[in-house]
Amino acid sequence: MVMAGKINKQIVAALQSQGIATIGLSGLDAALLKAERKKRLIIVDERGRKKVIDGGYTGKINEVNVNLLNFLIEKGYVPVVTPIVLSQEFEPLNVDGDRTAAVIAAALKADRLILLTDVEGLLLKGKLVPKMTAAEAEDALSSIGKGMSTKVHAALEALKQGVKEVLITSGTRPQPISSALKHEAGTVITSE
Ligand SMILES: Nc1ncnc2c1ncn2[C@@H]1O[C@H](COP(=O)(O)OP(=O)(O)O)[C@@H](O)[C@H]1O
Ligand SMILES: [Mg+2]
Repeated sequence: MVMAGKINKQIVAALQSQGIATIGLSGLDAALLKAERKKRLIIVDERGRKKVIDGGYTGKINEVNVNLLNFLIEKGYVPVVTPIVLSQEFEPLNVDGDRTAAVIAAALKADRLILLTDVEGLLLKGKLVPKMTAAEAEDALSSIGKGMSTKVHAALEALKQGVKEVLITSGTRPQPISSALKHEAGTVITSE
């Protein structure tokens, strides 16, 4: 309720205040995102041991209603999608936002995916990595902490499915999207 109701509508109103025609959706609306419920989840506990727990109400997206998104985009609307998705049993499931963005980017055959965060980009040994390939990112995964590692996994997924470039950058700096597109900030990950 918080994500689909409060936060989604706050983002819609904020974009609207900037003159951007925006439509807020969750993955439930028009069955925009269909998913399979996860039976089990593997987690790492506080002692670093792997544990298997019940999947609860989490899912893995297996279908994107691309027609709806393309229709809205063609009509000039910017869709703002909350990562609550529809299970095969018609229950709402939770999916990570970065993973959802990667799946949507791939389904739309997007050229670029931008993931915004609260740090400059991917940091290794405390320093910003301005550019890396998917292979380099994969090698670095074990030394990347929680939060950012999900973003890197999402980036690798998107690149594997044909997205040309993934940008990870801070959403708290001025002009975050245009500076990322110009490669003036953040981390750029490309397939080669
Ligand atoms: N190597 C790393 N580089 C950058 N951020 C990292 C790294 N390892 C862990 N992090 C954490 O990942 C966070 C960014 O992930 P994000 O998805 O935006 O936040 P969260 O999932 O915690 O809400 C950063 O705030 C930082 O604390
Ligand atoms: Mg996160």
